[in-house]
Amino acid sequence: MSIEKHMVEHPKFGQYEQTIGSSLTEAGHIPLEGPEGTVLGWIMPSEHATDAFVGSSTGKIVFEIGSGNGERVVEPALKNGAKHVYAVDIFATHLELVKQAAVRIGRPNDVYTAVISDQWWNKELQSSPGVEAILLPLTGVIPGDGIVDLMIARQVVQFGSPESFFRFLDLAASCLRVGGEVWTINMSPFLEYIYDCDIDLDGQKVQRGVRLSQIVARNREFMLGVRKQPGGFARVCDCLPETTMEDFLYFDRDTGVGLVNRWQETRRARGLASHLQIEENYCFGPRSIWKRNKLVGMPEYLNRENHVLVLKKV
Ligand SMILES: C[S@@+](CC[C@H](N)C(=O)[O-])C[C@H]1O[C@@H](n2cnc3c(N)ncnc32)[C@H](O)[C@@H]1O
Repeated sequence: MSIEKHMVEHPKFGQYEQTIGSSLTEAGHIPLEGPEGTVLGWIMPSEHATDAFVGSSTGKIVFEIGSGNGERVVEPALKNGAKHVYAVDIFATHLELVKQAAVRIGRPNDVYTAVISDQWWNKELQSSPGVEAILLPLTGVIPGDGIVDLMIARQVVQFGSPESFFRFLDLAASCLRVGGEVWTINMSPFLEYIYDCDIDLDGQKVQRGVRLSQIVARNREFMLGVRKQPGGFARVCDCLPETTMEDFLYFDRDTGVGLVNRWQETRRARGLASHLQIEENYCFGPRSIWKRNKLVGMPEYLNRENHVLVLKKV
């Protein structure tokens, strides 16, 4: 057990204490078990942005994508008086836990769940994308178009590509009511995670890992429209053979703006309104993280492990 403590000064959240655990579990990551003790994913530590999301959920219809067991959003939102919550995930076992949590807290009739395919966000972009058309095939109950107040995906869309994120934004544009918001919380490029990859950003074999400065510079070029893909998008399976993950998409401010701009272009090309506008776009550090980082100095890292993008339907 070796927990370090640091004080963090964040422009939005003020001063708070951050702990650094030497293992995932020590830092508050909770494994989600599948059949026969397999690990089908992780619940991520709670943090200030999620607290803010949950805090605004009273009386609202909430929709969580990739809810896991519901511990971070579904359950606290219901406890905070959310009207009802829809939760979708690719694993039925996670959603069973969501339902059990709703029973435990005495609100079994206020949670709707649906198992969706892990391929939903890889389909072609549609000319009339409604919630059901986007998420089919599915088993369970999903929200209708235009009824959701608050949608969230916590550490989910980072496992996709820029194109799968467009699909996600189509889903938000369809399910939200006017004035509703979609929140995404994801890893930022400041997290040392796939940098020891020996394939560089142009697909060439290299000795040393991909550099943070290159990624950030390419994210800027992506935002400016000079580059087709952000630097923080990687085919992880090409460089880390031990992982089952295929894609990874790091988010920062430039990536957020670039992705929304590109999505809006696809909407225009499809003759659709692009009525999502960026409300918030910032990096921050969760209250507990699991390791030190050799890419950047501690003060920079503590404020930048995660990224939040909030869009409002106008
Ligand atoms: C890292 S966990 C995060 C769980 C929870 N949102 C949290 O913040 O603790 C990622 C979750 O996304 C789900 N997931 C993975 N790919 C998905 C996809 N394409 N669509 C929806 N959910 C997905 C996983 O099953 C898992 O529950």
